[in-house]
Amino acid sequence: MATTNLKRIPVALAQRGYEVVIGRGCRFHVGEELQRLGYGSGLKVLVVSNPVVFHHYGTHCMEALGAAGFMASSLLVEAGETHKTPATVARIYDACWRERLERESLIMALGGGVVGDMAGFAAATWLRGIAVVQVPTTLLAMVDAAIGGKTGVNHPGGKNLIGAFHQPRLVLVDPDTLFTLPEREFQGGMAEVIKYGVIGDVELFTKLEQAETLRSATAMEPALLIQLLCRSAAAKAAVVVADERESGCRAILNYGHTMGHALETLTGYDTYLHGEAVAMGMGAMGWIASREGYWQDIEHQRQTAVLAKAGLPLRWPPLDPDAVVACMGSDKKVRNGRVRFVVPRALGRVEIRDDISTERVGQALKALQ
Ligand code: NAD
Ligand code: GLY
Repeated sequence: MATTNLKRIPVALAQRGYEVVIGRGCRFHVGEELQRLGYGSGLKVLVVSNPVVFHHYGTHCMEALGAAGFMASSLLVEAGETHKTPATVARIYDACWRERLERESLIMALGGGVVGDMAGFAAATWLRGIAVVQVPTTLLAMVDAAIGGKTGVNHPGGKNLIGAFHQPRLVLVDPDTLFTLPEREFQGGMAEVIKYGVIGDVELFTKLEQAETLRSATAMEPALLIQLLCRSAAAKAAVVVADERESGCRAILNYGHTMGHALETLTGYDTYLHGEAVAMGMGAMGWIASREGYWQDIEHQRQTAVLAKAGLPLRWPPLDPDAVVACMGSDKKVRNGRVRFVVPRALGRVEIRDDISTERVGQALKALQ
């Protein structure tokens, strides 16, 4: 592939800055991309993946690294959120030890957000921090999880409670890997793309409205898919650059997530994918914003139409509103005991509010059942 076909989105974080490189077939060029960053032959690279992803893309990746003169080894961890634990990270540390990774060595995450978060956390902590490169293979990881440096694992007390900020050196996005991704996973990732449209990019939102389909990578126009990936990466990069450690505006990325996390928790993490729960949270916040007069009904309807077009669920199961509110009260994003909601004010504009009443949340859940 000609390198001119690659899109390069900068994450301009000064000495921690890097590029999100996007292009069809770019996974075959991972070695050249590392050389471009100054990594030389003999570099030790530990590729962390899971059996499904490695079956599809492991050989390409290992061969590309070998061809560039790197000493690549691999570790496969179990797939799934239930394995995103300190115990799995301990297996990655064991592999780092076995392969004698040094301060200059590198961990490469090849997979979705689960692999990326764990490999990133292992890299943040092995030898007090070594480099990580993210090669995301789900839509959700391409547009969100792989970018921005949040790494970590779950604790029995909650999701992502153990973690570190550790920016990658490179994010390499090959859209062709999405052809093997199950459609439901693709649609879950599309919820995050729609989120970027609602929170800050009305042009992106309009593209989503105009698209013939948003339901699978195979059915979508390849050029449109690349545009969606680039705009989403740019949207995430802009927020991360403005607020790397989430002391302020990065919280807008949590649009739909506060209610979505409560839904995931109350349904045991095995009923809805993360993106599906986010879509339902966005639907609920859209309903609330419309009733409170924060945005117009028509904007809520447009958001609902795009979520439905992506095949995302919109109807809430019958949950006890008090349980949902209690669950939101234990979210990481609560400040001074008040739940902070990201509320849409118009397509492309949101604000953070802590004055949404429990009654309003209950009404939304009832209306959306
Ligand atoms: P995932 O990593 O569990 O992947 C979903 C499934 O798709 C897995 O079964 C995986 O094996 C399979 N898969 C991955 N790529 C494939 C491919 N190309 N072809 C076929 N199968 C493939 O799920 P996800 O949605 O990518 O990530 C969810 C995780 O990301 C959660 O743990 C969430 O907390 C985390 N996350 C992190 C951030 C962050 O900023 N760090 C942001 C959002 C989400
Ligand atoms: N996924 C939310 C964030 O990166 O802040």
